Amino acid sequence: MNPTPIPMVDLRQQYQSLKNEIQSAVNYALENTAFIMGPNVHALEDEVICPSFTFAATAEAICYVGATPVFADIDPITLNVDPACIKNAISEKTRAIIAVHLFGLTADIDEIKTIIKGKSIFLVEDCAQSFGTSYKGKKTGTLAALVFSQARTLAVMVMVA
Ligand SMILES: Cc1ncc(COP(=O)(O)O)c(C=O)c1O
Repeated sequence: MNPTPIPMVDLRQQYQSLKNEIQSAVNYALENTAFIMGPNVHALEDEVICPSFTFAATAEAICYVGATPVFADIDPITLNVDPACIKNAISEKTRAIIAVHLFGLTADIDEIKTIIKGKSIFLVEDCAQSFGTSYKGKKTGTLAALVFSQARTLAVMVMVA
């Protein structure tokens, strides 16, 4: 009996499993003549600012949607993102900022809101470590325009602006 060789890498099989997605992306580019620039290129270049000191999942969420994480330094006293560093990290590609409330300590939401006022930048709260925490009398996550996930206490992320 001849054993069936199992290829180390089967690119054809990989292509087959992604074929529909790939074809529709290629068709979209062709139909819209979006070869240079265009929404797909733009989407690839979106930047999201997050703290340099946080759980890996914060930056992972940014990469998951195809954006680029841009790290802003933290305040050594609060251990949360330093709004001044956010200000320096903002570019014309910045689409959002994820403020993390680390170890139950709240990020300086008001200061961050002041920095992005008038700009087309979303502010996202990562509340995974702030269950029950308050910021100026309001519970973190209660300023929500959109809740990403409430599946469990440690996975709540809320859009606030
Ligand atoms: C700051 C922070 N953000 C996000 C997460 C993401 O949690 P999950 O494990 O649900 O991806 C965690 C988890 O501990 C976290 O500490």
